[in-house]
Amino acid sequence: MSGPTPSPSTPPTSKILNEGGTIQPVREILWGTAAGAHKYETAEELPADMAKLVVKLMVVQADTEFASIQQHRPWLDRAPTLEDRWIESRIIADEARHGLQACRILRDFGEAGQRYIDELLSKREGEHKLDAFNMKFDLWSDVGAFTCFVDRVGVYQLRAFQECSYGPLARAMPLMLSEEQLHLNFGTSVLRRMVQDGPKYCGSKEEAQAAVEKWYPRALDMFGHSNSETSRRAVEYGLKRWTNEEARARYIQEVTGLTAGIGLALPPPEFDRRVL
Ligand SMILES: [Fe+2]
Ligand SMILES: [Fe+2]
Repeated sequence: MSGPTPSPSTPPTSKILNEGGTIQPVREILWGTAAGAHKYETAEELPADMAKLVVKLMVVQADTEFASIQQHRPWLDRAPTLEDRWIESRIIADEARHGLQACRILRDFGEAGQRYIDELLSKREGEHKLDAFNMKFDLWSDVGAFTCFVDRVGVYQLRAFQECSYGPLARAMPLMLSEEQLHLNFGTSVLRRMVQDGPKYCGSKEEAQAAVEKWYPRALDMFGHSNSETSRRAVEYGLKRWTNEEARARYIQEVTGLTAGIGLALPPPEFDRRVL
């Protein structure tokens, strides 16, 4: 390769999408050490270490999708309004499709991939990888804060994969992202209605505030460790656009304004954290 190697965490701005904007799909690797080469299109052509990383990332992705179905399920017929019940059913259908999508990518990795799928499908509540997905939704405010904060982290993870170096993964992103938009916007409006309408809708501002303090730390933990070797390699392989810490910083900036706009307050980023 001639010329300077691009810094793995700074994709060429002329080719990469803007924040949350639409993009033209390309067949080229846009960042990382193989920038400029064609995207990997099959599991077989991935370097062994990169293949392991794709599998690891897809197992975590699928695990969160299946876990959230278990978390939402009790609210299918308990959500306060008819519209809320319909959106709950929509979210469950979307998460099931996302789980299927991640498992389809795992299937391309043969027997090893299939073993992971079997394991994923046998997981019960409380057995999932990330803490945010092992907590029950006891109150409707849990549903609001989870979809507002935790699904939003999910969107950051998906955006980090947009136009990544593995073609089958890159092509799965646009639909997943548009479906996730419904989930997090729903969460924001649930919290807003609790603040504005209180018991006339459901719960109260105090309940919504308590839910923010319960879920925000778990959402920040989801980005992973700040000095994660895995996240650095994912950027180098062109799989993720940002390291854990870069993504977390962008997220904090976004939710700070959003939460204040609803009339709620975020605890400091270090509050109640488990993954630093
Ligand atoms: Fe999802
Ligand atoms: Fe979601």
